[in-house]
Formats: sequence, C-alpha cells, structure tokens
Amino acid sequence: RKIGVLMGGLSAEREVSLASGGAVLKALQSRGYDAVPVDVGRDLPQVLVREWIDVAFICLHGRYGEDGTVQGLLELMGIPYTGSGVLASALAMNKIVAKEVFAARGLTIAPYRVVRRGEAVDPVAEGFGYPVVVKPSQEGSSVGVSIVKSPEELPYALETAFRHDDDILVERFIKGREIQVGILDDRAMGAIEIVPVNEFYDFEAKYTAGKAEHICPPALPAELHCRLLAEGEAAHRALGCSGYSRVDFLVTEGGECYLLEVNTLPGMTALSLLPEIALKEAGTGFEDLVERILVSAAL
Ligand code: DAL
Ligand code: MG
Repeated sequence: RKIGVLMGGLSAEREVSLASGGAVLKALQSRGYDAVPVDVGRDLPQVLVREWIDVAFICLHGRYGEDGTVQGLLELMGIPYTGSGVLASALAMNKIVAKEVFAARGLTIAPYRVVRRGEAVDPVAEGFGYPVVVKPSQEGSSVGVSIVKSPEELPYALETAFRHDDDILVERFIKGREIQVGILDDRAMGAIEIVPVNEFYDFEAKYTAGKAEHICPPALPAELHCRLLAEGEAAHRALGCSGYSRVDFLVTEGGECYLLEVNTLPGMTALSLLPEIALKEAGTGFEDLVERILVSAAL
C-alpha cells in the first residue's frame, strides 16, 4: 500500500508543514512503508490521481489542509486519511465557532469579542481592559497574534490580524502558564509546559531552538494534572475530533484551565510538542507515534 504524506500547502504555515511532513516521511520509510511526499498545491486533485495513493497521511497546517478542505477532497475520492474528519477539522480551525462549541459544553474560555473588518472595538468598553490578545480566527503557529498593552498599540495589532483573516478575536488577556495536552487514540497521553523566552509562545519561540523551555511533565498538583487531561479530552470530543490532537491551555495560579484551542494537525517537527509528550509521558517514540496515527487512518 502506498502512503502519500501530504505536506506544504498554501497557508502561512507552509514551511512548518514541510518540516512536519519531512519528519513523518522519514519515520514511515524507516519502518519500511512505501511512503511518498505529496506537495499540496492547487493541483492536488491531479496529483492524487497521478500518484494513485492508498492512504493519505496529512501533515498540513492551517488553511487548505487542517481546516477540512483537503479532508473533503479525500472523502470524495475515497482515499482514507489520518486525523480528524471534515467537520471537526473545520470547527477546530475556526477559533470563533470553536469557542462557541466549547462554551456550550461548559469548558472555560477567555471572554472575547469578534471583530469583523471595518468594525471598531474598545477593550475597555468590552470590560476586558488592557492587555488584550488580538488574533485571526483561522491561523496557526501564532501567526498574526499580538498582545496589546495600550490603546495606542491596538490599531497595528488589528491591522496585523486582519492581514490574515476577515474575522478576528479580541480576547481578555489571561495570565497563566502555557500548558498543552497531547491526545492519541482519543485519550490524553500527558501534558507539557512551555516557558518561552519571548513574551509568549510566538512563531519564533515555537520553531527556534533555545527560544522556549519545555517541561514535560509539568509540575502540577495531581488533582490539577488530572483535571487538565480530562478537559483536554473533553475539548477533543466537543469538536468531534478523531485520533490525535494537541489541546492548548493557559493555567492560572488559581488552577483554572482556560482552553485556547484544539490543533487537529499538531506540528510534528523536531521542536514540536505532541511528539515530546508522547515520548516523555507515554514512552512512545516518534516512529511508533507516526505508525499509530497511520493505523488509525485505515479504521
Ligand atoms: N499549528 C502548529 C503546527 C501546531 O499547532 O503545532
Ligand atoms: Mg493552533
């Protein structure tokens, strides 16, 4: 059986995806699978027909890949694929809709306001005060995200976010530790804390060695650790995700777990967190992780 590793793509996270895809391709080949790279562009349907793959291992991040569009194409073509289906992928990629689903399930999220292009927003009038976090609805790797500390900084942050999306979120700033939960086979494997050198875990901190300390497992009281893992699973389930994901939280000093988002196609690069959680919390090495994700595609 021929496995196509779908990577690259058309989003702002193209380079990250190439790194994830390259690592997965190497892992599959080292286990003896017939795996080929498939660079995803607008000509994907033609490439899929030409390559005649049996299974798609999706290593795309962001739009046109993590958002259900490629999953829809694969469904239509009858090609099994790894990870979440069309609806869960689309829900998870859209932070506005995902927040509505999380809130309906009673999960804790930061208060937010949706701002559409051309609309004004006043964080003080919203009751958030400063700082606030400004982010595009449908991006990954913190692309277009700013922490805004004063009204003077707001216009530039809005402009930056609008460069990536027509709908953006202005969120109350939550002071907390950045902790993420890794899900495999729909169960939480464990958690990891990130202590960035920068102000937050931004694009540079995510992909530059030495720009963030990873603590796995994080130092948490047992009760909080259990609750965090349970909430990670609940978030994964709330969106109807399948198989694996990485769920990002901010954990406050008071032990509240603010759910940021579910990543249905989390990074698989050398500095990525799901592989590290799998290794340190579940004893699952990168190649085993990749193989388990692959097997779930065939179900
Ligand atoms: N969006 C990046 C790839 C991640 O969540 O790991
Ligand atoms: Mg993300």
